[in-house]
Amino acid sequence: MAVTQAAQGAQVLVASNRGPVSYTVEDDGSLRAKRGGGGLVSGLSAIGPDAGALWVCSALSDGDREAVRRGAGEDGVRMLDIPADVHADAYNGIANSVLWFVHHMLYQTPLEPVFDAEFRRQWASYEAYNRAFAEALAEESAPGAAVLVQDYHLTLVPGMLRELRPDLRIAHFSHTPWAPPEYFRMLPDDIAGQVLRGMLGADRLGFLTHRWADAFTACCERFAGGLGDTRIGVHGLGADADFLRARSHEADVEERIVALREEIGEGRRTIVRVDRTELSKNIVRGLLAYRQLLDDHPEWRERVVHIAFAYPSRQDLAVYRDYTAEVARVAEEINERYGTEGWRPVLLHLKDDFARSLAAYRLADVALVNPVRDGMNLVAKEAPVVSDAGCALVLSREAGAHEELGEDALTVNPYDIVETAGALHEALTMGPEERAERAKRLTAAATALPPARWFLEQLEALRETGGRG
Ligand code: G6P
Repeated sequence: MAVTQAAQGAQVLVASNRGPVSYTVEDDGSLRAKRGGGGLVSGLSAIGPDAGALWVCSALSDGDREAVRRGAGEDGVRMLDIPADVHADAYNGIANSVLWFVHHMLYQTPLEPVFDAEFRRQWASYEAYNRAFAEALAEESAPGAAVLVQDYHLTLVPGMLRELRPDLRIAHFSHTPWAPPEYFRMLPDDIAGQVLRGMLGADRLGFLTHRWADAFTACCERFAGGLGDTRIGVHGLGADADFLRARSHEADVEERIVALREEIGEGRRTIVRVDRTELSKNIVRGLLAYRQLLDDHPEWRERVVHIAFAYPSRQDLAVYRDYTAEVARVAEEINERYGTEGWRPVLLHLKDDFARSLAAYRLADVALVNPVRDGMNLVAKEAPVVSDAGCALVLSREAGAHEELGEDALTVNPYDIVETAGALHEALTMGPEERAERAKRLTAAATALPPARWFLEQLEALRETGGRG
């Protein structure tokens, strides 16, 4: 398809599946915009529309599609209305059921990939979806512009975009882990090659930790003849301390603190987790570790509450729906077995509520972050910053955040329930001085690279590469 270049064009472009804003159609037919959260959104807002920055993303809701139809989107955002079946194949089928599973090494019998004709059909949609992004970016970019492509949904975009616009400076950033070669090779050879070559179309590739960057480099050495001209950078996205501290003292958060205190009961300690209900977050084993704690240390019964927020995610996929049900089942089992008149051992909430998450962080004595594998995990960074008393952190060695926070966290093997229960006990019994000392160091490490600097650092590095055109 021919690409027409915008007369002016943007100087800085970001591309991601999920964008910074989403729309709903109100009863009176008007559109209501809701700002998305997350590091990338606050990172990009530091650049601002004045700098000519443009964010290209998918229209994900009916409201988004309506906004596209009416041409009513926000300045600085272009939503692509990709046909629903193509998007479903690319997002649910390939990105979230195959690439996410490969990089998080989530496959296990009987949930193993079957690369059949259906997979090939979905892959063609993934290509079409990536091409739609590449063409939109090619159209919208000013000569020599910097384009920053995000995540595993868009691995083919850098290569496609380079063919369309050799003058651009192109970066790609992975917010996930990267699989080691022995696991990555599970993908069919031609698909693995396409993914790696697609990424290597970029001038710079960014990862959250050295571990993921090294795994990517190893995959390229094994399966793609090396990195070629592409540079690799590690940028460990940190928490936004100023935003979090201010936001967590607003009235809606204070209200939720009052409500949560009521639910917790007088004088009890808290173990807090906040996650998307996501297989890699290991929520069920977290609950089992809490149950183990109550068995191994009955002195904690009635004296501790596990606040577990498990927000809905990717509910189009059966495996996520099943996992959500399993989380609810195990939490209920613990409550039935151990609960008493005045004590509910697990407070499980499944409805997304950012203000309530901040309220839980503020009340946290212990934060539990035990993923089986995670690109970074911002909860591990946010909880110590926000907690009023300085919380202790029980942290999986498999979270990217462990590379930066490992020294002051209590490290666990996420598969080891007994060890995790022991770490929870240690965290609960840690003296207040030691806890505060550790929380201070955790906070410093967690906020070392706030989102705006994280973004600018990559933009500057990309501009310094000089491009290939
Ligand atoms: C991870 C991915 C992001 C994604 C987010 C939420 O953090 O790296 O790209 O946006 O999960 O998942 P969702 O499928 O709801 O966008």
